[in-house]
Amino acid sequence: MARRTTLQLAVLQPGDPTSLTRQLSDALRRAILVGQLRPNTRLPSTRALAGELGVSRNTVLDAYAQLASEGYFSARTGSGTFVTTSLPEHSLDRLDAAARRPPARGIAPPALSTRGAAMAAAPLSVSDGRIRAFSPGIPALEQGNLDMWNRTRSWHQRHTTVELLNYNDPAGHRALREAIAAYVGPMRGVVCTAEQVIVTAGTQQALDLAVRMLVDPGESAWLEDPGYPGARAVLAAAGVTIVPAPVDEDGMCVQEAQRRAPRARLAYVSPSHQYPLGYTMSVTRRLQLLEWAEASHAWILEDDYDSEFRYGGRPLPALQALDRTGRVLYLGTFSKVLFPSLRIGYVIVPATLTPVFRNASSVAWHGANAIDQAALADFIRDGHFERHIRRMRRRYQERRAWLVDLIHDRLRDDLTLAGSTAGLHVTACFVRRRDDVEVSRRGAAEGLTLPPLSQYYIQNPRLAGLVLGYGHLGHDAIRAGVDTLAAILRDVTLRRSTRR
Ligand SMILES: Cc1ncc(COP(=O)(O)O)c(C=O)c1O
Repeated sequence: MARRTTLQLAVLQPGDPTSLTRQLSDALRRAILVGQLRPNTRLPSTRALAGELGVSRNTVLDAYAQLASEGYFSARTGSGTFVTTSLPEHSLDRLDAAARRPPARGIAPPALSTRGAAMAAAPLSVSDGRIRAFSPGIPALEQGNLDMWNRTRSWHQRHTTVELLNYNDPAGHRALREAIAAYVGPMRGVVCTAEQVIVTAGTQQALDLAVRMLVDPGESAWLEDPGYPGARAVLAAAGVTIVPAPVDEDGMCVQEAQRRAPRARLAYVSPSHQYPLGYTMSVTRRLQLLEWAEASHAWILEDDYDSEFRYGGRPLPALQALDRTGRVLYLGTFSKVLFPSLRIGYVIVPATLTPVFRNASSVAWHGANAIDQAALADFIRDGHFERHIRRMRRRYQERRAWLVDLIHDRLRDDLTLAGSTAGLHVTACFVRRRDDVEVSRRGAAEGLTLPPLSQYYIQNPRLAGLVLGYGHLGHDAIRAGVDTLAAILRDVTLRRSTRR
């Protein structure tokens, strides 16, 4: 039996730059993903919901149509609109089993704080650990690749000291902080001392800490649009008003962001390799961004997640290198250069923030695993890290060239590539009008992960396409993936033209 529901949606914000339709579709999607709206639930009529929320019926109609096109809703003639019984494939890896399981009968949902509810409603990112073509952002994880790292780590496990077994500095193991400071100087032009380096469990924890420390709920932050979902989730969970800042070939459009929210407290940028479009932020835009931050005492979060992997062109130093007044927090991670489950990253904070961030790290998690940190410090200091990067850079360059050549040979009429030659993914935009969510859904059914570009947008998507990760794929897997993708694109085109 279908269930009726009374929706408890967050109040929509008419003044927010995100359209009401988008706010509503995001809230409904979230309600499904956290299990608040269960499969087969009947939605209120568009007229009733519009009345309840005080918005136009068209807003609700458009939001329902959007979720139907994404596969979350299905319409049954004469009976209304329902949450589908099987969720779209591309959403499944964002869910954990608990979120999908209906709450046991008679057990009230947990009473959460406002902060907790915002966190529970943020989109969940859960990997099932399977390696599929073309999941973005995964490095090469094949056997043998990490032998030297494994040797260094097991040596440290066998020869650990009392100091390493005891509580350590919450800001990170001293030797690792020194090794990181000595590495980012020459490699990225970052100017810092070891004290400014705070070791975190990857960039995600650094983002969470920085946003908690620097922005109050209700204040605004600029976020690249399209942008990194991990940063968006942290801001949304902190109750921060997200101001979408459009991105073009020169990176974030700073003047437009200033026009939209001059008094924002913070800006998140990925200037070396904009995620997901892949552009490098121009020097002019970098200077505009720094000028704005200096004048308005705002903060800049610089996410330098994959800058080690550049295959052509002159790398620009980090934005932090141009920061004269201490407004930039520089985020780095070992997830791409080594492997994601290591969960070690860092934030390099301006000197004025060093004591407060150290204190906050002691409150929030009290430091990462000291034995892994000591092993990593040795791995860097002994030169293995730089050798590993050089080896991986050659491998990724080959994999990228292989994928790009196949796309040019086979899919030239369907896909065009955006961005610079760097990183572990290519962003492929559709040449002709196509629904990237539908292509992604078809891909999932065929065993491919094809994140739709439109889903990285906060406002109305300007581009449709796919974000294709290749770092973890050998040549055969790339070729097989392109074969399948070509068949899907052909089929989606055919079905569109036969429907006309
Ligand atoms: C833009 C961006 N920043 C940072 C990261 C790394 O996050 P973490 O260090 O939490 O693994 C990723 C991973 O995919 C990313 O795409």
